[in-house]
Amino acid sequence: MRVVLLRPPESGAGSFPMRRNPISSSREDDFRGRANMNVLAFTEGAMPTRILGIESSCDETAAAVVVDGREILSSVVSSQLDIHRKYGGVVPELASRAHLRQIVPVVREALLQAGLGFKDLDAVGVTQGPGLVGSLLVGITYGRVLATELGKPLVPVNHLEGHVHAVFLEAHRGGKAPELPATCLIVSGGHTLLYHLQAASGNGDASKRPFQYRRLGGTRDDAAGEAYDKVARLLALGYPGGPIIDQLAGSAATASSDIHETDEPNFGPVRIKGNPYDFSFSGIKTAVLYYVRAHPEFAAEIEARKVALHEGRRKASDLLPLCTPRTLSLICNFQSAVVKDLVMRTLAAAAETGSRTILVSGGVAANSELRNLFASKSASHSVSVFFPSRALSTDNAAMIAAAAYPHLLAGDLAASDLNAEPNLRLV
Ligand code: KG4
Ligand code: ZN
Repeated sequence: MRVVLLRPPESGAGSFPMRRNPISSSREDDFRGRANMNVLAFTEGAMPTRILGIESSCDETAAAVVVDGREILSSVVSSQLDIHRKYGGVVPELASRAHLRQIVPVVREALLQAGLGFKDLDAVGVTQGPGLVGSLLVGITYGRVLATELGKPLVPVNHLEGHVHAVFLEAHRGGKAPELPATCLIVSGGHTLLYHLQAASGNGDASKRPFQYRRLGGTRDDAAGEAYDKVARLLALGYPGGPIIDQLAGSAATASSDIHETDEPNFGPVRIKGNPYDFSFSGIKTAVLYYVRAHPEFAAEIEARKVALHEGRRKASDLLPLCTPRTLSLICNFQSAVVKDLVMRTLAAAAETGSRTILVSGGVAANSELRNLFASKSASHSVSVFFPSRALSTDNAAMIAAAAYPHLLAGDLAASDLNAEPNLRLV
């Protein structure tokens, strides 16, 4: 569920009782000691564990309550798209300010939807990184203060691991458990990464232990979502670029199968020296740029779309009539090149590492052509491919609460001086 909250906070502090000086040294140094006691209770007891997840790494303020890392009681996302749209990308300073405005009402709404009060929570999980430092700090500061006040453990979560758990959340909803080891593609506006994922060794229920990761590859330049956003910007298709290009390409493919222009750039396959599981999308993006520059006839329709966007007509149905067959052809071929590259490298990585499971997550995992191509290739490559729902593909806090759960059980808790890690890696 994706909820954009319009209701302003009633007061700066919200219903959570904040003190003037919320983290005093006498109370802040006991996160781990106090939490160790709580962790014992979680592992021994049969009581469900309710974790509040908080996500503020980029341009969505999100909070969610998830039970035992599986059952979503609520998931609230306040998107900042309307703030950043006119700049064609996220403006970090504006993002931090919007997080400050939204964090209290978003958390409050998540509790309301879950039918819980602060005292019913067992732990707080918060995104520590990677992301924008100012944005991360809003969630971390709020999470630290809340956990201190409630006397509950605070679990730092890697945003990338959150995306991995989004797939498991969805699979559990459908009553399935992806078989491990798996190859995991995280593909968003900030990341394009391939990991090998396996269960941690040890006794007991493996699903309750943090996964072990091995990095197989990643982008050397633009992330796939970034390429979508940049191409959409240069063609005046609005922001973010992924959803609109996805929809326009879908409509174009349905309307006509023969819109290929003869002098179009040859996008692929992308050739990379060295690691075959690395990615590179800047070449594809630059090929679009040079092609548009070489064809002055694009100028009139680009101008018409800029006017439409300025007037708030930004849906695919508004922009489709303003796109010539040449533009639609370009969009389709750009998308196919990106999607084929993502799918082929992921399948190759799965084959080499012996994974029969592929997990795909991150904003670009919402892409229809990516889902279709993975689905059509999965049988011939003897792999099962798992995606989150579209709402869980893009940034949300349910995935953060789910990722926090095994770390809570393992006792991986925040130090009292938990800080943002803008470049945090998974491995
Ligand atoms: O995971 P996310 O919400 O935030 C980051 O961590 O980056 O991903 C946002 C990215 C944007 O670049 C957006 O254009 C892309 O995901 N995206 C899509 C689609 N929906 C969102 N890309 C392709 N097709 C889509 N349907
Ligand atoms: Zn993300």
